[in-house]
Amino acid sequence: MRFSKKELAENHARLIARNDVYRRAGYDTGKDMRFVVSKTLPLKGRILEVGTGKGRFLTALLGRVPFVTTVDLNAEEQRFARINVAYRKPGGRARFVVADARRLPWRDGSFDAVVSMNALHHMPQLARVLGEIRRVVRSGGKVVLADFNRRGFAVFDRIHRREGRVHERSKYKLADVVKYFEESGWRVASFKGDCQDVVVARKRAS
Ligand SMILES: C[S@@+](CC[C@H](N)C(=O)[O-])C[C@H]1O[C@@H](n2cnc3c(N)ncnc32)[C@H](O)[C@@H]1O
Repeated sequence: MRFSKKELAENHARLIARNDVYRRAGYDTGKDMRFVVSKTLPLKGRILEVGTGKGRFLTALLGRVPFVTTVDLNAEEQRFARINVAYRKPGGRARFVVADARRLPWRDGSFDAVVSMNALHHMPQLARVLGEIRRVVRSGGKVVLADFNRRGFAVFDRIHRREGRVHERSKYKLADVVKYFEESGWRVASFKGDCQDVVVARKRAS
């Protein structure tokens, strides 16, 4: 897919302007991204990202790994992510798939790692999504799930309120995600950042 110079520049300007809004409200996109990426790496082999969005996390990952498959329900959001990747040229390549994380179109054990950032709170049927993530990771593989913590949500709720909108989100707890993987027999660690928390779960080799 090719994009015009105008499209590339306009999309980039929109992202930068948005990052500025976030920074003024107390969320440093770069700092939190570095934190999440540091807890996500190392990544090897076949990697699936769930919830492409505008491709911020994807672009950061593609600066560190050669290939990522990324899935999102919303083709329009993925188009922004494609433009973001085309603008930034991070090095790695992405395969964009439009699909529902509640029914991932891959066989059991298809990926060495599944990762996601700031997307789970947009998925009200989280148990189904977690079930699918668990299913598509091979034994010995890992899952990294990062999302806003209480401070992060407070910042984003405030931004949305100021803009006369509501930050639609399902109110799940990352602790429930930890419990879910522990009860599945995985080894789990969690990390607290400024506005993000991260869960890293490893499936035992069978
Ligand atoms: C805030 S964005 C994710 C941000 C993105 N990871 C980034 O770093 O820029 C959340 C995304 O989750 C997607 N989403 C919500 N429910 C989904 C589902 N059931 N399956 C796949 N994607 C879903 C939305 O379409 C949206 O693009």
